[in-house]
Amino acid sequence: MTKEALLLTIAVLGGTGKEGKGLAYRWAKAGYRVLIGSRSPEKAVTAASEIMEILEGSSSVVGMTNTEAAQQADIVVLTVPYAAHRDTLDGVKDMLKGKLLVDTTVPLVPPKLSKVQMPAAGSAAQEAKEIVGEDVEVAAAFQNVSYKHLIGEEYVECDVLVTGSSKEAREEALKLVAAADLTGWDAGPLENSVVVEGLSSVLLNINRLYGSKHSGIKITGVPARPPE
Ligand SMILES: NC(=O)c1ccc[n+]([C@@H]2O[C@H](COP(=O)([O-])OP(=O)(O)OC[C@H]3O[C@@H](n4cnc5c(N)ncnc54)[C@H](OP(=O)(O)O)[C@@H]3O)[C@@H](O)[C@H]2O)c1
Repeated sequence: MTKEALLLTIAVLGGTGKEGKGLAYRWAKAGYRVLIGSRSPEKAVTAASEIMEILEGSSSVVGMTNTEAAQQADIVVLTVPYAAHRDTLDGVKDMLKGKLLVDTTVPLVPPKLSKVQMPAAGSAAQEAKEIVGEDVEVAAAFQNVSYKHLIGEEYVECDVLVTGSSKEAREEALKLVAAADLTGWDAGPLENSVVVEGLSSVLLNINRLYGSKHSGIKITGVPARPPE
C-alpha cells in the first residue's frame, strides 16, 4: 500500500455505474478509502457492499450521496454520463474548493456515439473547469478505458492519457492511474482533453466496425520507465 493510499479518500460520483464501480474497485484494492457517491444513498450503499464483497471485506468502501462524498473526500472523481455532467457538478462545486477533480467524462451525444461531438467549451473537461472555477484543479483521465477491463485481475491493454489544469493536477491523477494498475502518460494541458475524449468515439467506431467490445490505445516509441 502506498503512502498516498493511506492518507487519501477518493469520492467516485456516479460510482454506482459501470466505469465508476470499476475504478472504485481498483482504488479500494490499492488501499485507498473510497466513497461511492450517488443520487440515491441506498443505491450507493448497495454498490459499496458489492465491491467490498469482491474484495472480501479487506478494504474501505462506503456509499452515500454525491454531495456527502464530495464533501468528505480529498480527491473527487466524476463518472456520470455527459447528460448529467453539468447538473452533477453544479450540485457539488461548493464542496470541491482546494481539491482535485478528476473527470472521466466523454461528451457522447446519442445516437451518434462514434462521431466526435465536443461541447462549446472545447471538451467535457474544459466545461468542468468552467463550472467549478479557479479554486479547483481539474484533471481528465480514463476516458479511453472500457469498464469491462476494470473489475478483475487481467492486464488492461489500454494506456491512460492524463490532461490537467496544472502539472500538480496531472501528477496527482497519474498516481491514481498507477494505483489502478494502469499505465498513464502526462498528455499536457486540459485543452488537450479534446483529443483524448474524441479518441473514445474513434474507439467506439473501431469496436463497431471490427467486432470488438473493448479496443484501446497504447503509446509506443518511448523508453521504458523505471518502476516507481
Ligand atoms: N462505460 C465505459 O466503459 C466508460 C469508459 C470510459 C469513460 N466513461 C465515462 O464514464 C462516465 C460514466 O459512464 P458509465 O458507462 O459508467 O455510465 P452509467 O453506468 O450509465 O452511469 C453512471 C452513473 O451516473 C449516474 N447517472 C446516470 N444518469 C444520470 C442522470 N441523468 N443524472 C445524474 N446522474 C446520473 C448514475 O448514478 P446514480 O443513479 O447512482 O446517481 C449511474 O450509476 C461517462 O461520462 C462515460 O463517458 C465510461
